[in-house]
This record gives sequence, C-alpha cells and structure tokens, in this order.
Amino acid sequence: MPQTELQPVPAEGLTQQMEFELALEFTRIVEEAAIESAKTMGMGDRPKSDQVATEAMRRTMDTVPMHGTIVIGEGERDKAPMLYIGEKVGAKMHDGIKLPEVDIAVDPLEGTNLCATGAPNAITVLAASERGGLLHAPDCYMEKLVVGPSCKDGIDLDAPVKYNLKMIAKSLDRAVKDLVIIVLDRPRHEQLIEEIRTAGARIKLIGDGDLSAGIAAAVLGTGVHAVMGTGGAPEGVITAAAMRCLNGEILARLVIDKPELEQRVAKMGIRDLKRIYRAEDLAPGENIVFAATGVTDGSLLRGVRFFGDGIRTQSLVMTRSTGKVRFIDSIHVHKEPDFKVRF
Ligand code: FBP
Repeated sequence: MPQTELQPVPAEGLTQQMEFELALEFTRIVEEAAIESAKTMGMGDRPKSDQVATEAMRRTMDTVPMHGTIVIGEGERDKAPMLYIGEKVGAKMHDGIKLPEVDIAVDPLEGTNLCATGAPNAITVLAASERGGLLHAPDCYMEKLVVGPSCKDGIDLDAPVKYNLKMIAKSLDRAVKDLVIIVLDRPRHEQLIEEIRTAGARIKLIGDGDLSAGIAAAVLGTGVHAVMGTGGAPEGVITAAAMRCLNGEILARLVIDKPELEQRVAKMGIRDLKRIYRAEDLAPGENIVFAATGVTDGSLLRGVRFFGDGIRTQSLVMTRSTGKVRFIDSIHVHKEPDFKVRF
C-alpha cells in the first residue's frame, strides 16, 4: 500500500486540520478491514472473520502518518495479539517531521456473528481523537439509552421506560405507538422488552450490533428512534464519538457487577461506579474522527460488493469540529489492463 506523503504538523494532538487530513486515511483503514472480513461472510467462522478484520486494520494503520495509541481495542496486551489497549500504531516519524498524537478506539468487526452468518448490519469501525479525547472504558457491559438530536434533552437513564418513551415521542411530535426502539435480543432484556411493549412502542430486536443501531437512531429517516438496553462499554464509547459528530446523545452507566471489575476500573481511574455518562463524557475530544464501513448490507450502509473488475465499499466518515458527515462510496479497482469502472 502506498504511504501518504507526510506533512509537517504540530505534534500536540489531533487538530482541526488533522481531523480533515486523517479522515480519508481512517476511511482506508475501515475499508480494508471491511473487504477482508466480507470475504469470510456466511462462512460461520467468527474468529476468522474477526481475525482478518483486525489484521487488515492493524496493517493499514501503520501506513497512516500519526503517533496513534489504541485506547479501546481487542483487549489487554496479554490477551490480544494486536490492536491491544496501549499498542502504538501509525507510520513512524520521518526526518524530523512531527506527527499528531492520536487516541484510537477500534471495533475491527462490530457484529462478528452478523458477518459469520451473513446477517445485516456488520460494520468495521474506529473513532479517533486528540490525546484524552476518548474514555478508556473497561471491557464490561454498559446500560445505554441512545437518541437523536431532537430527543436529547428530555431523557433520563433512571426514569421508567414509559417516561422516556413519552419524552422521545413528544420531541419527535409523534405518538408512542409510532416509535421504533432497537433492543439487543438477550434474556437480560426480558423486562425492558415487556415495558416497551406495555407502553405501546414498537420494537426491533437485533441479534448483535448496538453500535450501528445507535448511529441509525441519531439519523433522521432511518425508521429507528432510540436504542435501549445493556451492551458493550467499548461500543458505548465509540457510539458516543459518533453522537458527538451527529449531535445525538447517549446516556450510559457501566455495569460493575464483579469485584475484579471494580479493581480494574479503579486502576483506570474511574471512581464513581454509578456515574451516568453523556456523549460528551465518554468522548470529550474537541476533534473527533469517526469512520465505519459496511460489511454486510445495513440500514445506513451497504455491505461490501465484489464484482469482476473490483470491489465496492460504502463508508460513513464524520469529523466533529469541521462538521462533516460523509457517505463515501469507493471502488477499489483490480488494475487489470482492461478494467472498467461502472457507475
Ligand atoms: P462483537 O463486535 O464482538 O461482534 O459484539 C457485538 C455486540 O452485539 C455489540 O454490538 C454489543 O454491544 C455486544 O456485542 C453485546 O454483548 P453480548 O453479546 O455479550 O450481549
């Protein structure tokens, strides 16, 4: 892969200018991971799908001019061979050119099961920010309530489900019965599902992927109005980064239900275990880049398509301080002598 020309930039962090410049670089990273994992779609081999996405992401990251640190990744150093927490990534410094210091949260394949079974909404995803711009969340569960821009003021994570649904409906100027709420299909959500049904809202149960569901909730016209329930905390932080770019909101609380988890979060400097976080607490960065590529077709992004002369991918790439939300349709051509590009 050709290396991008290195630019002299200040080393203190991801600035607005770098947000601009790195957005396309980060797009390459999620595209490559999506292409590799899509090759394993439907093969029923979850570890393989995840492995190829992780390897592609890691490989491509090292061609990007930055001093990156993985703050959310595939796990702790002793458990994950690459993209582990604390791992340094990015192209090395050349001839005195200073590169930006960037914190990176990755989910190389969000919805491993979805990819392995050929189900919709698998994506590859990363979020980046200046140092300290993303919470170093432990790999535990998190209670979440994710909504779009119109609904962010009235909601309360501790309020009854019925109350939040009323507030969301009011903000969207519609009846509760016209809301669609996404919930992960898990036994732990039995009561939540019951309460949503009793309140009269409709539910879309998903097998996996509350991150892409959260993004859909923050985009008008997707037919999704909120995500409720408990999912992964790392996914929660990446969702928060997306919310900061989309002006949506996530209310979240870590689920610390084991003594060893308590010790782990204490080591990470998290003292208030009951704290309710908002998007700005989980992803406080001034400059944020969010990039995701569809692996299988989904409500927001098309999956990877392979055709004779190349591969087509669709990505969502957002930058917070420069206020861009881009849908990038890329054709990766096989450079055969007679290749053709179709519209
Ligand atoms: P993967 O990225 O590991 O495939 O996780 C998918 C996911 O469904 C997330 O979207 C969600 O936050 C989490 O897993 C839920 O965890 P669990 O499957 O343990 O309920």
